[in-house]
Amino acid sequence: MFTTEMLESVKKVEATRAARMGTEPERMSAEEKDALLKQYHPDYREEGFDRIQVGPNAGQKAPRELTALLHSNSRLLHRNLDLTKIDYDVDVLVIGGGGAGASAAIEAKAAGADVMIVTKLRIGDANTMMAEGGIQAADKENDSPVQHYLDAFGGGHFAARPELLRRLVMEAPDAIQWLNGLGVMFDKDESGRMVTTHGGGTSRKRMHACKDYTGAEIMRTLRDEVLNRKIPVAEFTSAVELLKDEKGQVAGAVLLNMETDDYLVARAKTVIIATGGAGRLHYQNFPTSNHYGATADGLVLGYRAGVPLLYQDTIQYHPTGVAYPSQIFGALVTEKVRSLGAMLVNREGEAFMHPLETRDVAAAAIIRECTQRGMGVTTPLGSGVWLDTPMIELMGGEGTIEKRIPAMLRMYLNYDIDMRRQPILVYPTLHYQNGGLEIGGDGFTKTVPNLLVAGEAVGGIHGRNRLMGNSLLDIIVFGRNAGKMAAARAKETVLGRPGLDHITEYARQLQAAGVETEGVSPLLLPDYARHER
Ligand code: FUM
Repeated sequence: MFTTEMLESVKKVEATRAARMGTEPERMSAEEKDALLKQYHPDYREEGFDRIQVGPNAGQKAPRELTALLHSNSRLLHRNLDLTKIDYDVDVLVIGGGGAGASAAIEAKAAGADVMIVTKLRIGDANTMMAEGGIQAADKENDSPVQHYLDAFGGGHFAARPELLRRLVMEAPDAIQWLNGLGVMFDKDESGRMVTTHGGGTSRKRMHACKDYTGAEIMRTLRDEVLNRKIPVAEFTSAVELLKDEKGQVAGAVLLNMETDDYLVARAKTVIIATGGAGRLHYQNFPTSNHYGATADGLVLGYRAGVPLLYQDTIQYHPTGVAYPSQIFGALVTEKVRSLGAMLVNREGEAFMHPLETRDVAAAAIIRECTQRGMGVTTPLGSGVWLDTPMIELMGGEGTIEKRIPAMLRMYLNYDIDMRRQPILVYPTLHYQNGGLEIGGDGFTKTVPNLLVAGEAVGGIHGRNRLMGNSLLDIIVFGRNAGKMAAARAKETVLGRPGLDHITEYARQLQAAGVETEGVSPLLLPDYARHER
């Protein structure tokens, strides 16, 4: 049910619709984008950040909430665990049960390794499951990995690590074939060719999708594969600290059984951190599109063990989170809505920007519209702008919304909003951590031997902004690679005695830096549901 102000504004959106159809708002120049970002993107709000005091990134800024976790104590400090009592003993330990972790485990097992997954929720409870719009791969005649590279490199402000981005785009076509072969039901035309569309910042239509629940379909398939291949999964079990041996190699992890509160020791020759993102830290009080478990755990584990962070100060706010109704505030409205033709329109019915600018630019433009320009529509929790969804039906024909984005349609119908006939209100939502742990082109960290990172916990694949559809891609490409590399490395690794000296040393550094904290990390579950331990 819209408010009176909303209904008045909808009339203006409807009145301008015919004139807007078939037109394209101008793209911004590079200078305009730069100025817009500096003034309105949350990454430039100094008050959202603190300086890290210890560890490899000491002196650099990070979101306040992440800095607080990096400045917290280990759960294991002053706890005398018997590390000689080994509960699990494997070649490859995968921490995280999302798309990257599952892909890694499948490949490690295929390479003959003894592999297990630990996950603090259930396998598949992850951001992968919530991904909607699609997965990029340059696999059509008019496209090439070079073109894909250029789009992603520019979209990421030329900051992506070339060796990582190269792997991402080069291995993308094979990733799609791998998923297709496992049984992912991609959208295909009558001749069996995959249907591809544009995303923000793409110069070619290379977005492969399973309607608007691409991530759920991919995760369904990967989860089945993990279970069918009989890969052991310890659910409701979180990694709370990495173990290192006397040579400094990673040697496994200490786990917490979240149902019994028991600590367990997992010894492993190689470890893959695939713990995902940080949306549930609600940086700068933003709502989030992220899964419940997205609390940056892997960044804390890796950092305490000595792995530097890269671009930890750049966060992706997806331009179109739900602004109204309040019950689904912050939920994702897939970018595919815009790629199918819906325009972003202000309270007066004006299209104030090209709908497919890159995400950071689009988010900043919406924030400007709602703040400095005063052109947002008031909602119970703030304000938003219109996404003029009826345009999709007018341009693509009746039934397009139901066919291409049925989950969106259903989500809004639950609240009596029919997006086929009514526009919807959107505002940026915290969606993705562009930064993360630093790895080399082979997937290994450079500072802790035998430790790999895959998926959203990696920093540098996308630079300082990610294009739509490159995240589902990176979990597959880097997940698979990590699994293969970890399995191979495990064969030649001789482990020493697992220990936790690095956490004592980290605590000493915190004390020396004068950091006082009552907090413990990793957080494991978001604050609003945390129970005292
Ligand atoms: O808008 C979306 O569907 C999100 C996709 C992504 O983050 O890659």
